[in-house]
Amino acid sequence: MPVSRETPEPEVILAAAEVLARGGLVAFPTETVYGLGARGLRADEVEKIFVAKQRPSGHPLILHVDGEAMASALASRWSDRASRLARAFWPGPLTLVVPRAPSVPDVVTGGLATVGLRMPRHPVALALIARVGEPLAAPSANAHMHVSPTMAAHVVQSLGDRVDLVLDAGPCDHGIESTVIDLARDDEAPRVLRAGAASLDAIRAVVPEAVYEPLTVATDVARASPGLASKHYAPRARVVLVDAPHLVDEHPGLRVGAIVWSEEARALLAHRSRTVFTLPPDPEAFARALFATFYEADAAGLDLLLIERVPATPPWWAVTDRLARASS
Ligand code: TXA
Ligand code: MG
Repeated sequence: MPVSRETPEPEVILAAAEVLARGGLVAFPTETVYGLGARGLRADEVEKIFVAKQRPSGHPLILHVDGEAMASALASRWSDRASRLARAFWPGPLTLVVPRAPSVPDVVTGGLATVGLRMPRHPVALALIARVGEPLAAPSANAHMHVSPTMAAHVVQSLGDRVDLVLDAGPCDHGIESTVIDLARDDEAPRVLRAGAASLDAIRAVVPEAVYEPLTVATDVARASPGLASKHYAPRARVVLVDAPHLVDEHPGLRVGAIVWSEEARALLAHRSRTVFTLPPDPEAFARALFATFYEADAAGLDLLLIERVPATPPWWAVTDRLARASS
């Protein structure tokens, strides 16, 4: 169902809220990626998200709230750090992991003692939460192990009729998921669990002590958060990260495609018959286009996707993380 991004039509939001009130699932746009929503405090409704995604239970979901008051009511302790980060980043792409209140069902937290909370900035997401008047549990609206959807068509491609309604407000602004930060313990530094659309510099401006360990095979295995395993962020094709000169290597018998961003790589591939996706050399614009390109690579039936390495600088942190996962 089409919906206006800037001024969501009240009748569309009402129709979506009615689907949720009947216990249905509604995919809705956020500024990061599309989410697959259910009413977050009703265990039987949240269960349906796991069935639709074919996601193993035990993977915690984010509750989407309309502000700090709704958030703090879902936490058993709302620390000074949580409050400062919420005020600095919300509405926006930062998920705070805090100790859970008893009202939060186990199915949402995967049995953990914590809950992930975020107030999205997208007007459609905010209108829907306001209309329902309760937090919405919403993971990315893709089947388990697929790439997060950045357009309504991706949701349909990934979930088909396992979702009751998809609100289509066009492509997402960031195209990459929220940054997730663990604030559960006051006696420990906040730890970034997932690099994302909120930058580390911006987070450290509020909590200078925040810790971030870039993804490695070792950290991946030792993850505290089950949903963070690498394989969750990959297209179907095998992904290999390469420096520009290797984009022209031969791979006999394989359908090979490439994602490039530099002038050098584009020049190298200009006269090749390979499927080439050219993304912008700017990290935010690259992130916005990356998952859509993975969906296109899947649709093209590629066996091997060569991706030109991106610069190892802070603005690229979230892209670097997703490419590391996709190629692991
Ligand atoms: O941008 C986003 O965060 C999108 C939109 C829809 O809001 N949502 C999203 O949800 O990416 P999902 O379920 O695909 O990813 C949520 C991540 C998972 O990696 C999960 O493990 C982590 O957040 N997470 C959620 N609750 C947690 C908790 N209590 N402790 C640790 N990690 C948690
Ligand atoms: Mg996801």
